[in-house]
Amino acid sequence: MCGIVGYVGNGQAAPFLLEGLSKLEYRGYDSAGIAVYDGQIVNVDKSVGRLAALREKIGKDMPQGTLGIGHTRWATHGRPSDRNAHPHADCSGDFVVVHNGIIENYLSLKEELIEKGHHFQSETDTEVVAHLIEDVYDGDFLSSVRKVLQRIEGSYSLVFMSKKHPDELICTKQDNPLVIGLGEGENFIASDIPAIIGRTRQTFIMADGEIATVKKDSIKITDRSGNVLKKKVFTVNWNAEAAEKGGYEHFMLKEIMEQPKAVRDTMRERITKDGSGIVMNELKWDKEYLKSFNKIYIVACGTAYHAGLVGKYYIEKLARILVEVDVASEFRYRDPIIDEKTLMLVVSQSGETSDTLAALKEAKRRGAKTLAVTNVVGSSIAREADAVLYTWAGPEIAVASTKAYTTQLILMFMLALYMAEILETQTPTRIKELIDLLKNIPGQIGETLSDTEPIKTFAKRYGFNEDVFYIGRSLDYDVALEGALKLKEVSYIHAEAYAAGELKHGTLALIVEGVPVIALATQKSVYEKTLSNIKEVKARDAVVIGIAADGDEELIKYVDHVITVPQTDELLIPLLTVVPLQLLAYYGAITRGCDVDKPRNLAKSVTVE
Ligand code: AGP
Repeated sequence: MCGIVGYVGNGQAAPFLLEGLSKLEYRGYDSAGIAVYDGQIVNVDKSVGRLAALREKIGKDMPQGTLGIGHTRWATHGRPSDRNAHPHADCSGDFVVVHNGIIENYLSLKEELIEKGHHFQSETDTEVVAHLIEDVYDGDFLSSVRKVLQRIEGSYSLVFMSKKHPDELICTKQDNPLVIGLGEGENFIASDIPAIIGRTRQTFIMADGEIATVKKDSIKITDRSGNVLKKKVFTVNWNAEAAEKGGYEHFMLKEIMEQPKAVRDTMRERITKDGSGIVMNELKWDKEYLKSFNKIYIVACGTAYHAGLVGKYYIEKLARILVEVDVASEFRYRDPIIDEKTLMLVVSQSGETSDTLAALKEAKRRGAKTLAVTNVVGSSIAREADAVLYTWAGPEIAVASTKAYTTQLILMFMLALYMAEILETQTPTRIKELIDLLKNIPGQIGETLSDTEPIKTFAKRYGFNEDVFYIGRSLDYDVALEGALKLKEVSYIHAEAYAAGELKHGTLALIVEGVPVIALATQKSVYEKTLSNIKEVKARDAVVIGIAADGDEELIKYVDHVITVPQTDELLIPLLTVVPLQLLAYYGAITRGCDVDKPRNLAKSVTVE
């Protein structure tokens, strides 16, 4: 997720570009840049680091001009650096673009353009767009942009500028947000409303496939075929803070709601065109390499550790390789049995958690091969590991990790499938069947998010209890652990997760009348056993909220309430059952008036041991 801005008008472009980018830093902040046309040339200033570093670089020498674009980056392709920062220009400097999203076919386009003699400055997918428009330019800016859009695949919001057309910007979007702010003698373009509400509240909210030619006193919007479209003006009545959260009250809820897109983005480019296999361009493993390992270690902290537990289940079930999982703060002090036959997988949203980084270094010291799953390109853990797989969840601002968890799960599921394909531990038919189910997950997460009312009701009714228990077996237990952590960290309720079969070994002593128990019962292989554990707690007059798959008519006979999630393979159902638990934690925190995005005593990234 990146932030993009554009300005065309009677005023100076640079002040708006910098001001607008400062309002979009929650969308990405590893590097930033602006490009302003001064009547002769396009001056491009860019810098790695936050926007403050760019401002410092520009200093008092503010670029002059009334046409400009800007960008604040959340890296996906190409680590954070000056040269990978946007805006990106073509060979001649005549065309400059900023982009938010992922150009999936950029490698093949880049090869084609290099063949044609184009010279690239960066490792980014975006720079391909600048050279593409240079390549297809036919004198007509709009028709040239349309030709570019016919060649690129993926998700994008794009703003084009050219010194050949100094009085206009062209912008378009596909699967990523883009708005146009309507001013007096000036117009504004931005990824998101926060960037423009300081200037205007009259906007056009762009739709996929629309292309806008924006001049200082006119805006023409067409579809991909060139048909002119009429747009309704949308008047923004949010305040600036609410706008940053996309209209949601908290980043946590915004990020919970972003999960369908975050999971979809993380899956992009990783499934073969015919849907029969998994692509992991970053790995290039073969059977001999994988056979060289006798164990995989997954090490992480907190939510990432809980994702690691699910990852263990996936890899053992699908690839039949032994997996051990450990919390990073314990791992390195137990003299772990690690050698060159060990593959160490570290999971970390921030890529900066010191316990996890230390564990990674310890594993390397003992000869292990290392692989990182992280959400931050160029983070310390990404740089330390031998190989990296990125979740493309976009910045996660809330302390409570939500979209990072589901993207970690989907990435580890695909990794396990990738290994199974190489080791031939699953038939092609089974792999294809799981990939078909995998493709439905973003939509099914969306379905699960569509009705939050029942969960709000439960949160209001039970949110003042001081103890809540989560129980489940197998993968349901792994998700129960994550659900309990979510509730604990944002609502300060003492929530505990237990393997359902463990209750009779002690915990049952705590189950008394009225105690809320969240019981996950989606794993068919252990369903009857889970049901008997639910009966145990019901016999002690607990209040039980069951989590089940659609079509389960049995569970409701034994519990007080049931929340269902769409049917899918029981391997994939954790991606769905975690969603009501995230929402329960969120609304529980609201009920108790807690500081949802910044819970007491906690930090987003724990960079101390
Ligand atoms: C999860 O909601 C917490 N914020 C915390 O447990 C977090 O998952 C943990 O600190 C690990 O962070 P990382 O994924 O950035 O390494």
